[in-house]
Amino acid sequence: MNQPLRPVDPSTIPELSGRFEPVQTEIDAADLVVRGRLPGDLVGSYLRNGPNPRFTPLGSYTYPLEGDGMIHGLWLEDGRARYANRWVHTRGMAAEEEAGRALYGGLLTPAFVDMALLGPDPDPGWPSRLDPFINVVRHAGRYLALEEGTLPYEITSELATVGRYDFGGALAGMCAHPKVDPFTGEMVLFRYDVEEPYLAWGVIGPDGTVTRPLTPVPGVDQAFMIHDFAVTEHFVVLVIGPGVLDMEAMLSGGAVLQWRPELGTRVAVIPRDGSPGIRWMDTEAFWLWHIANAYETDEGGELRIVVDFPWWSGLGFVMGDGPPIRGALARATVDPGRGRIDLVHVEERATEFPRIDDRRLGRRHRFFTVVGHSGRAELVRGEHDQLIRVDTASGESLIFDCGAVVGEAVFAPRPGGTEELDGYYLAFVSSLDVERSARVVIWDAADFPAPPLAEVLIPQRVPNGLHGNWFAAT
Ligand SMILES: [Fe+2]
Repeated sequence: MNQPLRPVDPSTIPELSGRFEPVQTEIDAADLVVRGRLPGDLVGSYLRNGPNPRFTPLGSYTYPLEGDGMIHGLWLEDGRARYANRWVHTRGMAAEEEAGRALYGGLLTPAFVDMALLGPDPDPGWPSRLDPFINVVRHAGRYLALEEGTLPYEITSELATVGRYDFGGALAGMCAHPKVDPFTGEMVLFRYDVEEPYLAWGVIGPDGTVTRPLTPVPGVDQAFMIHDFAVTEHFVVLVIGPGVLDMEAMLSGGAVLQWRPELGTRVAVIPRDGSPGIRWMDTEAFWLWHIANAYETDEGGELRIVVDFPWWSGLGFVMGDGPPIRGALARATVDPGRGRIDLVHVEERATEFPRIDDRRLGRRHRFFTVVGHSGRAELVRGEHDQLIRVDTASGESLIFDCGAVVGEAVFAPRPGGTEELDGYYLAFVSSLDVERSARVVIWDAADFPAPPLAEVLIPQRVPNGLHGNWFAAT
């Protein structure tokens, strides 16, 4: 740790090369070429975030846990499409631009940065950068680029960076997967930390003010990495897999993130109204990155909470030479009254990036989409080539083979429609050939997996990324 860190060799890191290779230009392009026909009622923007290091990382690079955030945006109006991409211009990135090189170390190789190089008001988060590279959401009219644990960066609807955003000083940080309740307008969030309180949750009211400051979750006595959670009409559901953050190990050169299956996986069900009565349930160790959705149901007068998610047998990239991890589509039925969980593998299929029609967030859904893997040899770890829609009522999965790498798909409701499939799916896709050319593919959700309605050609590469959202024009 006291040795100066050297830049990594990107050609040796799959997540810095090929279709992951960062782009170094910020462009604006109007009147994009469209194959097919854009739906006239699809008016708004699709913004997607992902890590895109500005400089060659120092010491190490761990995907998908770090990297300067870059947002790729597609705007649709009057049957026309335009595109722009922008980094989230953080203070840390500004300091590195001033220096002309990376200053911070990678997550697994922290560096003691010369504070004089970081300016008078550096982003909190040392020795790591504040990198809002995971997600982008809109709440109370504000667009926020998000990392987990840290503060968001506010951006404009046109992707210009406004600055670090702390909700008027009321929040020290938040997760990358907050949930906006479509019925109350509240944004519910959690935050994990490497020091006490290790886990807390909070609420932003529909007007953007903090209505529940970060409230510690009792019973969590060490630091766990928790990437996503679920919110139902009355409860917050936190799934705590045994991915432990060990800062002492990190500072002595060990792995900051460790898989401790002996701890099992725990589920906390917390009343959203703040009343006491957190219920804990224990089960065998499993891991999840993302939850499609959760909702309450009544079984003979008793509460159950249904949670649909891509299940993993372990925490892949930190398990070293251990057994390969397995994935499945899983449904957990939680019985808070008896403290029990019934976990069923609905399908033995490894998938990721589950999404629903967000108008049903926290309420009963029937459908969700995920991306999956056909087995194509060209794909590398973290890439998918299938868009899959799961029907939880029939148990049937419909698959569209993209013949290319497809990222998370988002659902854009058709204005005026209310049915769950009344709208469109949008996803960024990159070709498998040497060009790695990018496009946004648009499907009619009601007709899926019929061929797409339209494909919008993006005039530069769009590296594989993480999460985004559709923002209907307001
Ligand atoms: Fe995520």
